[in-house]
Amino acid sequence: MIETPRPRASSASRITLRTADAAEAKKLHALITANREEGHLLPRTLGELAVHANRFVVAVRARRIVGCAELAPLSPHVAEVRSLAVDRQARGARVGVMIVEELRLRARREGYEKLCAFTHAPGYFSQMGFSIVPHSWLLEKIFTDCVKCPHFRTCGQYGMVVPLDTARENAVHIERSDTQPAAAPLA
Ligand SMILES: CC(C)(COP(=O)(O)OP(=O)(O)OC[C@H]1O[C@@H](n2cnc3c(N)ncnc32)[C@H](O)[C@@H]1OP(=O)(O)O)[C@@H](O)C(=O)NCCC(=O)NCCS
Repeated sequence: MIETPRPRASSASRITLRTADAAEAKKLHALITANREEGHLLPRTLGELAVHANRFVVAVRARRIVGCAELAPLSPHVAEVRSLAVDRQARGARVGVMIVEELRLRARREGYEKLCAFTHAPGYFSQMGFSIVPHSWLLEKIFTDCVKCPHFRTCGQYGMVVPLDTARENAVHIERSDTQPAAAPLA
């Protein structure tokens, strides 16, 4: 059985997760840009963030967006965790884990079979059940983004995948309702 990460209720309970809206594109842009270099994140334009805001899950603390990530479709079967960033002041409270778990639930609900990530921090994703795979297993990503990228074949990013397995999703759902009673309903 796969272990489900447990949120630390004291710090995580003040965080709520919800879908972003287009009016928040500037805030998303600022958060992603501030973490772009550290996280080797793809640059994002304000325009695309406004168009795709509803794919973003944001973590909000005291009405401030402190974390975000996009559930980006790569094909009808594969979705990607993209632009994951947590404000420095909100780190270490499992905000990033909560956001990825929420994207995983949404991806499963939307019928994707796999969730992937491209990252310089494979340990972060492996603790959440992702496995490193050869880039060639994620041709959807290669044809969507990599071929246009100046770092194609030399980027050093790890391709990581987690299957969206119903049993695990149910386990996460049960654990969330047991351990996070204070969290607001998710959009
Ligand atoms: C990576 C990032 C999203 C983590 O956010 P966070 O909310 O502070 O992380 P969490 O609190 O959810 O971390 C949970 C665990 O992962 C560990 N962790 C955090 N960053 C990690 C990293 N880069 N590599 C490996 N493990 C990491 C934490 O130490 C913690 O472990 P613990 O439970 O044993 O203490 C955040 O540091 C960030 O925005 N970084 C810059 C952008 C970036 O790197 N994005 C990801 C690129 S794909």
